Amino acid sequence: MELLALPLSLALIVFTFVLTFRPRSHRGDAKLPPGSFGWPIIGETIGFLFGKPEKFVGDRMNKYSPDIFKTKILGEKTAVICGPNGHKFLFSNEQKYFTSFRPHPMQYLFRSYQNNRAAPPPPSSHKDESKAIRQPGFFKPEALMRYLGKMDSITNQQLQMHWNDEKNTVKVHPLAKSITLTLACQFFLGINNPERIARLVKHFDDVTLGMHSIMLNIPGTIFHRANKAAAAIRKELLNVIKEKKQAMATGAPMQDILSHMIVVTDPNGRSMPDPEIADKIMGLLTAGYSTVATTITFLMKYVGLNPEIYEKIRAEQLEIAGSKKAGELLEWEDVQKMKYSWNVICETMRLVPPLQGTFREVLTEFTYAGYTIPKGWKVYWTVSTTNMNPAYFRNPEKFDPSRYDEGEAPAPYTYVPFGGGPRMCPGKEYARLAILAFVHNVVKKYKWEVIDPNEKVEGDMMPEPEKGLPIRLHHHHH
Ligand code: HEM
Repeated sequence: MELLALPLSLALIVFTFVLTFRPRSHRGDAKLPPGSFGWPIIGETIGFLFGKPEKFVGDRMNKYSPDIFKTKILGEKTAVICGPNGHKFLFSNEQKYFTSFRPHPMQYLFRSYQNNRAAPPPPSSHKDESKAIRQPGFFKPEALMRYLGKMDSITNQQLQMHWNDEKNTVKVHPLAKSITLTLACQFFLGINNPERIARLVKHFDDVTLGMHSIMLNIPGTIFHRANKAAAAIRKELLNVIKEKKQAMATGAPMQDILSHMIVVTDPNGRSMPDPEIADKIMGLLTAGYSTVATTITFLMKYVGLNPEIYEKIRAEQLEIAGSKKAGELLEWEDVQKMKYSWNVICETMRLVPPLQGTFREVLTEFTYAGYTIPKGWKVYWTVSTTNMNPAYFRNPEKFDPSRYDEGEAPAPYTYVPFGGGPRMCPGKEYARLAILAFVHNVVKKYKWEVIDPNEKVEGDMMPEPEKGLPIRLHHHHH
């Protein structure tokens, strides 16, 4: 009898446990998506952050459903909506079923509440930096047209300064970051002081790493370093804001996003407090920094490895250059002619997505593909559910810009590097111009060889070449 008592009582405990904790729905018929929440607390966060993103989603799409699966990442019950239909559903139901959500590490890094260490993360706010930048003016083609000439000249200057005639072996990634941040400092902040910009580069690298990290704020962790970097950036930005206000008081022209944020008021006529401006600008700088720098870097790699692609880009760019007078800067019409170069950029972003995907918070329970997603859950979409799928991209591993030739465009919602719908990346046009201005200048001046084609790529959410992508430069002399 005693021999049976232990297994029996254990079974009873397990049974009670199962009854108590089994997923319950208020309507008997609600069916949650298939999948696993993984380990207690940590869930499947490790696999999500430190595995190949296509593998994380691919394995689960195979195992559970090609349309949707559940998981627990960064402390949140999350439904991952997959494939072109998933992308379409997500981009078309914005604010109806869901609203934007930043994972906790991001919320923490981008808001000013670390002054109060005891405070828990605030609930996700629905007001974010995108509101401020979607306001009339900032990223509209009319405004961007004015940026273009300056983008061209800054890029040209940076290349001349860092990749000058005496140098044969150079690294791509550090220069890509320097150019990107210099442009952002110019257009977002109106600053062009190189030392100040150089100081910011290192801090931004740390913050970017910390956005996708485990929120463990103790010395030595990625998140701790990110927090210190965020505080340093915030301090620098508060200084910039103070200086800007003084300059504006003396009638300096307002040509950057920061000065617009300073004058903008809410419906009650209140202007934004400085710390909030600093957070918003920091959000913008981070969104626009590593994305553009990553694309430039991997473009240099793929083009360096494919001489025939290099020749086609160069032909396109030289034709544009040839149609201009000496010293004349790039104009809007020029960029519209850079079709092949843009296809090369697109192919780079397909193979190395600058941003994997984003989260939403479920506002009201909804059904997708026969499954019910409860209110309060998070939804995640990612380019990695389609980018490398041979059903949509023939020979997906191959770098082949001809996929985007006229008449061959990818099927709808299979290629969405900037997202879609009302929340689509507001920096898309800005990014396009910045990268095209880089391509124009770099192929005009140089040809290059990738020194180590097998250089290891580090980081799964934010990929970068381990050694910064060293290349051998050959200067074209006119
Ligand atoms: C190659 C470059 C870039 C890529 C691939 C990219 C991609 C994306 C993606 C996929 C999203 C998420 C959209 C969604 O949640 O549905 C996003 C959001 C965003 N991007 Fe970009 N981005 C790039 C460059 C930029 C630049 C240069 C800026 C700033 C000038 C910028 C500012 C933003 C902002 C503020 C958001 C948040 C929008 C929101 O939540 O409503 N991005 N971007």
